[in-house]
Amino acid sequence: MGSAIQLNRVTKIWNEGEPGAVTAVDSLSLQVGQGEFVVLLGPSGCGKSSLLYLLAGLEQPSAGELLCDGARVAGPAPERSMIFQEASLYPWLTVLDNVALGLRLQGVEQPERDSRAQALLRQVGLGDMGQRRPHELSGGMRQRVALARALAMKPKVLLMDEPFAALDVQTRARMQGHLLEVWRASGASVLLVTHSIDEALALADRIVVFTARPGRVKHEVSVALPRPRNPHDPRMVDLHRQLTELLADEVDRAFLEQETR
Ligand SMILES: Nc1ncnc2c1ncn2[C@@H]1O[C@H](COP(=O)(O)OP(=O)(O)O)[C@@H](O)[C@H]1O
Ligand SMILES: [Mg+2]
Repeated sequence: MGSAIQLNRVTKIWNEGEPGAVTAVDSLSLQVGQGEFVVLLGPSGCGKSSLLYLLAGLEQPSAGELLCDGARVAGPAPERSMIFQEASLYPWLTVLDNVALGLRLQGVEQPERDSRAQALLRQVGLGDMGQRRPHELSGGMRQRVALARALAMKPKVLLMDEPFAALDVQTRARMQGHLLEVWRASGASVLLVTHSIDEALALADRIVVFTARPGRVKHEVSVALPRPRNPHDPRMVDLHRQLTELLADEVDRAFLEQETR
């Protein structure tokens, strides 16, 4: 398995050289294989979003290098799509046009882009929602539209920053199911950030646990179990316990640091 993403000793210091400088990510090395589903798990403020911004090409690292498919990340590209916690759809466009927008910007002609967008909407279970506007949809539906829009660009890598955190528990579980289906069909690699151990265990091939800020890799756990996974499976229960312990230390550290800052 080749690597879709490779991070070599990446450091991100916000406001570098100023009094308010913050080291968000410290000399982090990480690889994500082609088609692999990796979940980053860590306490809040440990630099997870910062890392995704770097990978999306929205920010530059202070040191180290980021490679996507062997090429240095120099800026945003459709092959590295980012999905945020709140779907950022254009309210004045229909759902179908939101999904087709990237294709339009790439110069794909009308009937072709509409039929591709429609197929993607079907894939995320929204085949009959194309003519609606975003405000008519629930939060979960909007997030599925955002997913369809990202997939329209045939990304090699999907970067997802706590994409389901704003959704209720039931919707969240269904969204995870949708995501797994779409991931399998697309062959893309996924790097998903969450602070939910349950979510990490439901989704990941591999879970990377971050330390409290500055973010470094504390531990990696492979989850070699078929999906959908039963959370009551003894192996899952065991992994859950292991991750809870790993994370608890870091949450304590993050909390202490905030208290004493
Ligand atoms: N644009 C920014 N400017 C300055 N500091 C930032 C910026 N974004 C994040 N930070 C700081 O970097 C640290 C890590 O933040 P972030 O990457 O958002 O963590 P996480 O996503 O793990 O919660 C925090 O201390 C945060 O305040
Ligand atoms: Mg974040």
